[in-house]
Amino acid sequence: MAKAVWWKQGPIYQIYPRSFFDAGGDGVGDLEGVRRKLDYIAGLGATGIWLSPVYPSPMVDFGYDISNYRDIDPLFGSLEDFKRLLGDAERRGIRIIMDMVLNHSSDRHPWFVESRTGRDSPKRDWYIWRGGRKGGRGYPNNWMGAFGGRAWKHDGETGEYYLHLFTEAQPDLNWRSNAMKKAMFEELRFWLDLGVKGFRLDVINYLVKDAQFRNNPYRLRLTFPRRHDLQTHIMDRNQEETFGIVRELRALMDQYDETMLVGEVYPDEGVHDPALAGRFLGGGDDGLHLAFDFSPIYTPFKADRMESCLKSWYEKIPPGGWPCHVLSNHDQSRAATRLGGGDDRINRLLALLLLTQRGTPFLYYGEEIGMVDGRLKRRELRDPVGVKYYPFHPGRDRSRTPMQWDDSPNAGFSAAAPPAGPWLPVNPDYRERNVAGAERDPSSILHWYRDLIQLRKTHEALHSGEIEFLPHHPREVLMYERRGGDERLLGVLNFSRRPQTVSLPLSAETLISTGRAKGSPWGKELTLAPLEAGLFRLLPEGF
Ligand code: GLC
Repeated sequence: MAKAVWWKQGPIYQIYPRSFFDAGGDGVGDLEGVRRKLDYIAGLGATGIWLSPVYPSPMVDFGYDISNYRDIDPLFGSLEDFKRLLGDAERRGIRIIMDMVLNHSSDRHPWFVESRTGRDSPKRDWYIWRGGRKGGRGYPNNWMGAFGGRAWKHDGETGEYYLHLFTEAQPDLNWRSNAMKKAMFEELRFWLDLGVKGFRLDVINYLVKDAQFRNNPYRLRLTFPRRHDLQTHIMDRNQEETFGIVRELRALMDQYDETMLVGEVYPDEGVHDPALAGRFLGGGDDGLHLAFDFSPIYTPFKADRMESCLKSWYEKIPPGGWPCHVLSNHDQSRAATRLGGGDDRINRLLALLLLTQRGTPFLYYGEEIGMVDGRLKRRELRDPVGVKYYPFHPGRDRSRTPMQWDDSPNAGFSAAAPPAGPWLPVNPDYRERNVAGAERDPSSILHWYRDLIQLRKTHEALHSGEIEFLPHHPREVLMYERRGGDERLLGVLNFSRRPQTVSLPLSAETLISTGRAKGSPWGKELTLAPLEAGLFRLLPEGF
């Protein structure tokens, strides 16, 4: 049987290290904590880990503001801890990819400190500096920061503005500077030489900005008052030159074995743009290996909507390219809340959907036990977005609450005693929803995930096969065939809360289903229980 390369096989497990496991007892998760949980991750069947940033950082944006690209923040441990983690993961067949923030650094990064010293600083053009309009005091253009306010900060020292598409503590790097690019590529090499197997590239489509700094046009939108979302971002991101840099990044990666780049590609807020994500895959072998299309995150829980969303994503994958899928991450409401409303039947359906599609599935820590969003009080908010926009925007802390390991205090995440405690409150449902409890219960959602991942590993049709959506049915059902080797498998998912009957192209037997035992049924008609999700094997003609 053909064996898929690790990053095509997956799943890849995203860890937000602050919230995974706190071995040091200070209330914040750390690298040693991740290392101690490697057996758990291996047991799940993940082939890779994406680590959200662990570099030294003032933590204004919790690590997405990097002040040194070559080290580990003491909060998470040391470079030695990192190497130990890498080695132990490798021994278990788990690859590690780092989160790499190329669009901006922290304002404390020595490059920016230097750049700020004067207009003639040798690193001045490593960042994006502009004079003001209207005699110097007007903003250079209308660009807005994603985290609120203008994207320009006036710098008293030199009388110019610097660009920051996120907080003002995250100045944008200038990707038109070859010297900066060269230096940044060396930072990537540092991690590749250590044995890291690739990177998740933060906001990769933001790297290059319009050379003339023209204004973004406005768009009409009924939304909460964030002016950033009222612009069409055609000038401050998605510039043609970015694709050239992506090709260079790919060429660097190709010098190392088995490496992978996955890009975070952000369209305008709420917009489905699989074509944009697809462009980052280049011709299939000269772009990123993977790119996130976030359309499913903006898609309601409806079979027909999900089908058209997935289909349009597949259509945008270039020949030789490879799709990937994501339902939850550290920036979004967890799918278990957003789509599942806390109903584990929906969580199981979503798991089956994610793990039986064509392409690499990404899992966000806790997804496998059906963790839901935390509900935080105002004083508990830490995310700069949540703090700034309270109460209009919930911010992102809700999907970053500590991993729920068991039913002991702090959900077994941390030994930090009150009043300090974990950095974000543990979701009180940890008493019923936690890894230890789920391990003991063979019918738990955790076992469901494990079984699905196992199936994905052992069936070529699932990890490398083709996909075809079958015309049929009541609209509430999603039905697709996966074909590979000499097998034909059928995913059948009932998105409604009512029983639904579908006709199958051939007789089938159950491989796994929330509604029936393995081996059943034998027939061409299938009546699904409410919210049932199953994977069936089509039997040869004549059965
Ligand atoms: C990405 C990250 C997000 C971060 C932002 C700025 O969208 O996923 O967490 O705040 O970039 O780096």
